Amino acid sequence: MDAPTKITQLREALNYHIYRYYVLEQPTLSDGAYDALFDQLVALEAAHPDLVTADSPTQRVGGGVQDKFVKVTHPAPMLSLAKATEPAELIAWESRNRKLLPEDTLLDYIVEPKIDGLTVVLHYENGVFVQGATRGNGEIGEDITQNLRTLNAVPGRIPVDPDSDVPPPARLVVRGEAYFPLDKWAAFNDALAEAGEKTYMNPRNAASGSLRQLDSSITAARPLTLFVYDFVVADGIDIPTQADRLNYLRQIGFPVAADSQQCATIEDVIATYQAWLTKRNSINYEVDGLVIKINDQTIADRLGFTGKDPRGAVAMKFPAQEKTTKLLAADVNVGRTGTLAPLARLEPVELGGVIVRNATLHNYSEIANKDIRIGDTVIVKRAGDVIPYIVGPVPELRDGSEQIITPPAICPACGSPATQPEGEIAIYCDNAACPDQLVRRIEYFVGRTAMDIGGFGTKTGGILVENGLVSDIASIYTLDQQQDELLALEGFKAKKVDNLLTGIAASKAQPADRVLTAIGIRYVGGVIAKLLLAHVGSIDALGEQSADQLEAIDGVGPQIARSITTWFANERNRDLIARLKAADLQFTLYIPTSDLTNASLADRTFVITGTLPTLSRTAAKALIEQHGGKVTSAVSQKTDYLLAGEKAGSKRTKAEKLNIPILDEAALLTMIDERL
Ligand code: IVH
Repeated sequence: MDAPTKITQLREALNYHIYRYYVLEQPTLSDGAYDALFDQLVALEAAHPDLVTADSPTQRVGGGVQDKFVKVTHPAPMLSLAKATEPAELIAWESRNRKLLPEDTLLDYIVEPKIDGLTVVLHYENGVFVQGATRGNGEIGEDITQNLRTLNAVPGRIPVDPDSDVPPPARLVVRGEAYFPLDKWAAFNDALAEAGEKTYMNPRNAASGSLRQLDSSITAARPLTLFVYDFVVADGIDIPTQADRLNYLRQIGFPVAADSQQCATIEDVIATYQAWLTKRNSINYEVDGLVIKINDQTIADRLGFTGKDPRGAVAMKFPAQEKTTKLLAADVNVGRTGTLAPLARLEPVELGGVIVRNATLHNYSEIANKDIRIGDTVIVKRAGDVIPYIVGPVPELRDGSEQIITPPAICPACGSPATQPEGEIAIYCDNAACPDQLVRRIEYFVGRTAMDIGGFGTKTGGILVENGLVSDIASIYTLDQQQDELLALEGFKAKKVDNLLTGIAASKAQPADRVLTAIGIRYVGGVIAKLLLAHVGSIDALGEQSADQLEAIDGVGPQIARSITTWFANERNRDLIARLKAADLQFTLYIPTSDLTNASLADRTFVITGTLPTLSRTAAKALIEQHGGKVTSAVSQKTDYLLAGEKAGSKRTKAEKLNIPILDEAALLTMIDERL
């Protein structure tokens, strides 16, 4: 047999056995026999280097080193899903859909695990894996082909079974989730810790971190794997149901979660969901919920979208996970606005696959209300991605040695006296020069939701402050005059300094609403920043508004207005603004008020009750309407959400009875923000 034929044969055989092992989990070859075939291929390829191809199993060991990831535009936007948390919302989802469909439409569903990993988009041309990308912002992702090639679960060529008679489509793009198997997770993280390397917060971060390595041999050394759940493009393939699409993907050799289930009715879906509440802890991957999809994709397509979410599918979140552990200490954390917040140090406890050591205690008044003491056995809860928090103590387990937690009298970072403004729950360090505050402000300023400065690593802010290179956020923009000082810092090589300065320079083009968000005025996040600029036009003009003028803007309550005027009244802040302006940051933004209306709350009906912390009722109504939602006065089956503040009375009781989700102001703002 000639070398090319032998090489092809070996590759086909090896790929098929990788597939049997990793995808089907039914190996038919011993490890020794596999290694023998592999070594033969390595030897043949070494003798014929011109015959080495990217899809050869020998290439799965990685080794290609890149200096950055190239951006890739997805063939279609990688959308997200509307979320539900209660079974009642599923029933409401179905009845909303039914109203849009001919009366006797048959609806059945596919219930899939919502895998908590990193979304990937895989491209095949004539059956060969040619490109793999991250989801990125949904439209543009990053090319991580070299890294994805190292995953044994990613077929290098389809169909994987050499005896298959299913021809591959000329072009196929599939979407899936790469994840870190849970049985390998703890040992992996421990090994990192032992080697003195940075550990990962959770399996999802480990998956994402591993796939974003510039050296693909690092990715290859990690046990990542994959599930695919849909195709984005499949030339000439017309498969109308999701059940058959999953079968097809499986048939051509992709790993598809075996845990998907077909349900004939929405009641079946709910029963499946109930069963998953226990099952979720016995599978080898993290799930943060289920994705419920209408099986018939022609119906799903006909239903279209609300805002950016397809109507034909919904993500049903699992409730938070709870455990008890001991509260060892309550440290004080200094926030970017000077808040001195209690931070719980816990006896490490495993919660949904993650070891929890810290939890937020929110504020001191909550500690007092719940009577949480050091030494207490406490209930810790983890809800999705958020930092775990303490639900409350278990007083029955006290032995008398527990200690009351008192609010700090001074800031632990700078020693300034702690203050508590009238009517506020939070305690603050008022020292504008407090080093911890400054570091937090910088972290926020350069972060993703604000100026999004690439090259500004998580530890960079602390190092720059500690070495006196940055004394406030505006001084970030004079760092280019301090190249020598930067290069003298430990670990700041020429390339790192260059990346940092390039990122800083590029951030000058960020629009004014990001600048306004980034300066970190209390209560002024992305949504409010846009709203304010739509009304006043520029950051300078904002500083000239009185509290009354600000409150006249729909969506701005007294607390926001006061926070803004107080901020601009401070000379130090005005000076900061002047210097940011001198650095050429964007200060003017004209958003026509009509453009603010995005349809993110379209089709959602709200009822408002009680007193909200910052928004007036009129303002809340305007905000909802501005995002396409509707506000009605009475709670009924038609109500999607109750927005409830303090002293909510009978409307709340009625909403609870009807299983209507109840939101507070913060949840509403997040909902809008997330969907912007
Ligand atoms: S379907 C139009 N199915 O969850 C959106 N998504 O918000 C189609 N995810 O980041 C998504 N498992 O990557 C779908 N079985 C599954 C999924 C799944 C995880 C992720 C997805 C996206 C998010 C959906």
